[in-house]
Amino acid sequence: MIPADVQQTKQRFGIIGNAPGLIRAITRALQIAPIDLAVLITGESGAGKEFFPQIIHANSSRKHGKYIAVNCGAIPEGTIDSELFGHEKGAFTGALSARKGYFEEADGGTIFLDEVGELPLTTQARLLRVLESGEFLKVGSSTVLKTNVRIVAATNLDMVKAVSEGKFREDLYYRLSTIHIEIPPLRERADDILLLFRKFSTDFAERYRMPVIQLTDDARNVLLNYRWPGNVRQLKNITEQISIFETNREVDGATLQGYLPQYNIEKLPARQTATPGEQDHTFFEKERKMLYKTLFEMQKELADLHAKVEELTKAAQGQAHFTPSPQSVTVARSMALAPITTAVPVHVPASKGKTIDETEGEVIPNEAEYVEEQPTTLEDTERETIRKALMRNHGKRKKTAEELKISERTLYRKIKEYNLE
Ligand SMILES: Nc1ncnc2c1ncn2[C@@H]1O[C@H](COP(=O)(O)OP(=O)(O)OP(=O)(O)O)[C@@H](O)[C@H]1O
Ligand SMILES: [Mg+2]
Repeated sequence: MIPADVQQTKQRFGIIGNAPGLIRAITRALQIAPIDLAVLITGESGAGKEFFPQIIHANSSRKHGKYIAVNCGAIPEGTIDSELFGHEKGAFTGALSARKGYFEEADGGTIFLDEVGELPLTTQARLLRVLESGEFLKVGSSTVLKTNVRIVAATNLDMVKAVSEGKFREDLYYRLSTIHIEIPPLRERADDILLLFRKFSTDFAERYRMPVIQLTDDARNVLLNYRWPGNVRQLKNITEQISIFETNREVDGATLQGYLPQYNIEKLPARQTATPGEQDHTFFEKERKMLYKTLFEMQKELADLHAKVEELTKAAQGQAHFTPSPQSVTVARSMALAPITTAVPVHVPASKGKTIDETEGEVIPNEAEYVEEQPTTLEDTERETIRKALMRNHGKRKKTAEELKISERTLYRKIKEYNLE
């Protein structure tokens, strides 16, 4: 029997599911909401952590105060202190006027520090001071200011590991995790998978004005047996794709599997989450493969252009009074602008000859070959890939980062680096 206050909270925030782990997490959030202490929410990516700071704020004595959510992973290291704590005029180049930080803005309210594990160590020191005494300094100022803010932090990283690797201050970790709420991964909430699918498929059917997707028994089993590495977010995305693309509104297991990446590998019983290092590695691999693919496509286009320019040059040499067409000028200019090549800034196996990429069986030339053969740079390719992805996602960084399978921080850095603002 689910307590009435938990049921109301689920309704208020649109939370679906009755799994004991989820109900425990909501019950705990309601219990600790009135206790004015820091809270740490942990759980895998896409598990639904973002509901919890809101539940806590809305049920605390600060509910009429401000609630500010900050994605620590999306703010570049260079500006995060100023974003959080503010700065004085002239504190750094570009600081044309003084600015209030979130901690000053949220005085009397709650700050949600999402992806807190991404905070640089210097910022961690400032945060510890706020947690201990409510005191902070604006960047470029020596005047101690006071604020009264409750901190709710969230992370999908293994914080104990981050502490043991020296990436996260131990004292801050203990301070933040005085109260800890763990959100279980979706694969441990099996009964909720079908409930969530039904809710999402009904919502998407309404949004796209199409009949609701129905699942065969076989398809239901596929959903239940999948490992859901991206948790509820992944289930939601897949439901949306199916709702849009499947003309046959009754979906069977085989069709469904087509939407689940690495169905056989990602299936149970591999319950252990990837360590942050492994996650980085996977992201890196995906990013690398995507870049290679684009690079190969561009390489082919450039080879065609090369041939065309050569042809035109020969024709020009053969004619005493050759007037290049506007088209040939454009082609020639773009070839002149494209640097012959630069070193590839990604790790390419150092062995001689070609390397077989095990996951996809594609052949990756080694670094030396790139230097000789590439008529363009990897930077160009990367810039173009990011630019297009940003356009596709209407400039939304979170979505773009998700599509490119890189962190928002990396995306932010690349946007700056390539002047794509
Ligand atoms: N129990 C649930 N009921 C309904 N929707 C849910 C539930 N859990 C998660 N979602 C939805 O799934 C998506 C991902 O959830 P959320 O953003 O809270 O993930 P997260 O744990 O913060 O992940 P990350 O660590 O990647 O930031 C959101 O659209 C959220 O609304
Ligand atoms: Mg989140």
